[in-house]
Amino acid sequence: MNAPLITLNDGRTIPQIGAGTWPLSESEVPAVVAAAIEVGYRHIDTAAAYGNERGVGEGIRRSGLPREDVFVTTKIGNDNHGRKKTRHALAQSLRRLGDDHVDLALIHWPMPQVGKYIETWEALIELQQEGKVGSIGVSNFRPEHLDRIIRSTGVTPVVNQIEVNPVVAHKDLRAATLSRGIAIESWSPLGPSTNALQDETVTAIATRLGKTPAQVILRWHVEHGLIVIPKSASTERLRQNHDVFDFTLDAADIAAIDGLDRGTPASYATQLAGDSA
Ligand code: A2P
Repeated sequence: MNAPLITLNDGRTIPQIGAGTWPLSESEVPAVVAAAIEVGYRHIDTAAAYGNERGVGEGIRRSGLPREDVFVTTKIGNDNHGRKKTRHALAQSLRRLGDDHVDLALIHWPMPQVGKYIETWEALIELQQEGKVGSIGVSNFRPEHLDRIIRSTGVTPVVNQIEVNPVVAHKDLRAATLSRGIAIESWSPLGPSTNALQDETVTAIATRLGKTPAQVILRWHVEHGLIVIPKSASTERLRQNHDVFDFTLDAADIAAIDGLDRGTPASYATQLAGDSA
């Protein structure tokens, strides 16, 4: 079954589940992307910083599917903030992907210490007007970063791609993002480093429903209306991760998984230090 399409605030649509590609290398990613498309994914997420855009482009071509049937996201890296650098970075990403446009381009991190995310956002607006990018959005932005770019340009990002999984659920940031009309993309949705896949609450629900823990967690994202980009190098896991549209979680299950949230890790204080920008 195809993933449902989520309508973004610019009227374009994005498949709710995409294949994440970090940390797949340039040499391993073509086969993974081709396999993902083969099992039904129509949305691939990459970034200049992943160092695998060439392989992503190759994987899409290898799949044999027309390019317009796949939604491709890339991201402007932290070293490329500022108008000129952002325009150059996007041109380089397109060259590596072997494409003349991407469906979505994101600012990977706000980099408030550099202080150029508004200029970077203005460059993405230009690139969108020129047709090199379908939709434009951000990643790892806090509410104050969102407000600054919206106030400065009048253009609201379509998505904020942030870490969301049952253990690092970012409830406040999700609410703040949604209240600004911005959709959320969950990175690290399975939270492997937080052991969410082994959590007893998750495994008990999975056993009862005859699903895997990963499917239960991904369905939790879907129930919350989140766009989700799990990564797997295994075709079998790619298949099961995409196969989450033939069951639902009831309110009690969703609440139980919501209860696993342990809050924002301390590392975010430094990663997202944006107060002075
Ligand atoms: P692998 O590539 O070997 O499948 P996330 O996308 O949340 O960052 O999670 C990615 C991690 O979770 C990878 O280590 C991936 O390993 C693993 N993973 C992906 N899908 C599954 C699954 N269905 N079951 C268990 N682990 C998974």
